[in-house]
Amino acid sequence: MKKLIFLLILISLFSAITVVPQTTETIRVGVFFDMTGATSSFGIASTNGIKLAVNEINDSGGINGKRLKIYLEDDEGRPENARTVVQKLINENKVHAILGEVSSTNSLAAAPVAQEAKIPMISPASTNMKVTEVGDYIFRTCFHDPFQGEAMAKFAFYQLKARRIAIFRDVTSDYSKGLSENFTSTFRKLGGKIVATETYAYRDQDFNSQLVKMRRQTPDALYIPGYYSEVGVIAKQARKLKMSIPLLGGDGWDSPELWKLGGNALNNTYITNHFAVDNQAAEVQNFVKKYEAKFKVKPDSLAALAYDSVYFLADAVRRAKSTDGDLIRNALAQTRNFSGVTGKILRLDENRNPVKPAVIQKLNTKTSDFVYQTTIEP
Ligand code: PHE
Repeated sequence: MKKLIFLLILISLFSAITVVPQTTETIRVGVFFDMTGATSSFGIASTNGIKLAVNEINDSGGINGKRLKIYLEDDEGRPENARTVVQKLINENKVHAILGEVSSTNSLAAAPVAQEAKIPMISPASTNMKVTEVGDYIFRTCFHDPFQGEAMAKFAFYQLKARRIAIFRDVTSDYSKGLSENFTSTFRKLGGKIVATETYAYRDQDFNSQLVKMRRQTPDALYIPGYYSEVGVIAKQARKLKMSIPLLGGDGWDSPELWKLGGNALNNTYITNHFAVDNQAAEVQNFVKKYEAKFKVKPDSLAALAYDSVYFLADAVRRAKSTDGDLIRNALAQTRNFSGVTGKILRLDENRNPVKPAVIQKLNTKTSDFVYQTTIEP
């Protein structure tokens, strides 16, 4: 009998030892994007970038001996869903950190949930100022819109010699609103004039009346800080109305879908962006090669930012030596000289915004490529 009890104790001790480390073995990362809605191209590319980075990290032994495990949720591009899926990731999946969303409006809807639960959330791509202002657990891997808007305003004024600009923005998007304000303030400071401002809404299809109003003011260029889903259609309708002026945009244009929607109307257009696939730096081309081999398409800036976000998180977890939310948060905030395929993050500012460069790209409708023009340093 004694022998049996001893054996039972031994077995339970043994299983406790083997079971406990197994549950702490993984670093649980919640991921949420629009996988099926109007901006699903953003979610699909982002998820690809995340998968590539997670596989690389796990294949090379994980982080401090722990593997990364991904929990993916689709918010269908709806802010109310973004909120509930993040609640689920935290309460049910007990994630240690969260990656998401792309569109600023969706990140803004979800961020208060992560902040309240003290779970670090990193948006790879939301550029609106307000996103990280939600609280000290909210981070991003991209630059913000004051920087992006300023970069395009300077390019329009100095390189394109534009003096009169019309702005066409999406009223349903925090991103579009912020970017048009940031562009306006810099462009005016330089001595340029905003001659017209018109608005549209997400999923609109007919933009003719606003375009005609803006055409009357004879702008030198048209700034459209929106998402590819509407921008492609706007470009087509503008060209049909004989508006051959340069069209200017931002990162929200970056999608392989844009070419299908806009076609040749995208001639003579320029955008600010995070990542240049034609950047010949070895680390960029190495990433492009691996991504293309796995997903049979070239990576866009969403793929690149999401890939960098995993390494950005991994770098912090490694330094934190823990999966504790506070310790990961502190380590993230102390990030220095982090090199990614979207450029080097020198440091984060007091609102957890990366200080890093932007690129300007010209659209080539013959090859469906965003062609690198210049880098704007912070
Ligand atoms: N910056 C956009 C936003 O904040 C999202 C985006 C980033 C879209 C990069 C495309 C490429 O809403």
